[in-house]
Amino acid sequence: MGRKFFVGGNWKCNGTGEEVKKIVSTLNESEVPSEDVVEVVVSPPFVFLPLVKSLLRSDFHVAAQNCWVRKGGAFTGEISAEMLVNLSIPWVILGHSERRALLSESSEFVGDKVAYALSQGIKVIACVGETLEQRESGSTVAVVAAQTKAIADKVSNWDNIVLAYEPVWAIGTGKVASPAQAQEVHCELRKWLHNNAGAEVAASTRIIYGGSVNGANCKELAAQPDVDGFLVGGASLKPEFIDIIKSAT
Ligand code: G3P
Repeated sequence: MGRKFFVGGNWKCNGTGEEVKKIVSTLNESEVPSEDVVEVVVSPPFVFLPLVKSLLRSDFHVAAQNCWVRKGGAFTGEISAEMLVNLSIPWVILGHSERRALLSESSEFVGDKVAYALSQGIKVIACVGETLEQRESGSTVAVVAAQTKAIADKVSNWDNIVLAYEPVWAIGTGKVASPAQAQEVHCELRKWLHNNAGAEVAASTRIIYGGSVNGANCKELAAQPDVDGFLVGGASLKPEFIDIIKSAT
């Protein structure tokens, strides 16, 4: 069974109302492959979720950049999965390396978040990735396997999970992983899924790459057999995001 190409745009902590409207207008006017070929999900900051959802073309979808680990309540500043459901936001990014590093989100915490979001009917882009130090020490596969295991320990159904491999050393640096580097880790992640979640899960789960993807490097990366799409940061705020969507294979 083919895996539908997936392109996510993580806008991170960026934008004003006017800038967001301009980005959405550019997306709405773009000619891209049909939804049968590529699944497009953009992720604005929380404060712009209703605006983007109200303006965005119907064949593109919206994700939150995070959500809380359980039902809402006395958790100041948090946004619950139930709130995303209430706003009809179908996707959420969880476990991004910036949250793991800056907010000390542990792999176990990420696993719990993924399980809870899924339990509320939210689909998850789950992020894993190693630091430069971990890569240079040769522990890349062990690190991303452990991060994936922390998710697998809490979920039994992978139908609504997209796994995003985002090497920390490639995020925001312009130092994109080579196609061979990306393919190697994606292949190892798919092997891990095969051995620990089953053949069907390994065959059907999209594994997407994130880290300095742009209009110039996306085609070669997209051509790799185990690269099923992208999670794009900086370039998702620019018109070249359309070129990345068109790289769908
Ligand atoms: O979540 C995607 C992001 O981490 C990648 O950022 O700017 O390197 O494309 P960027």
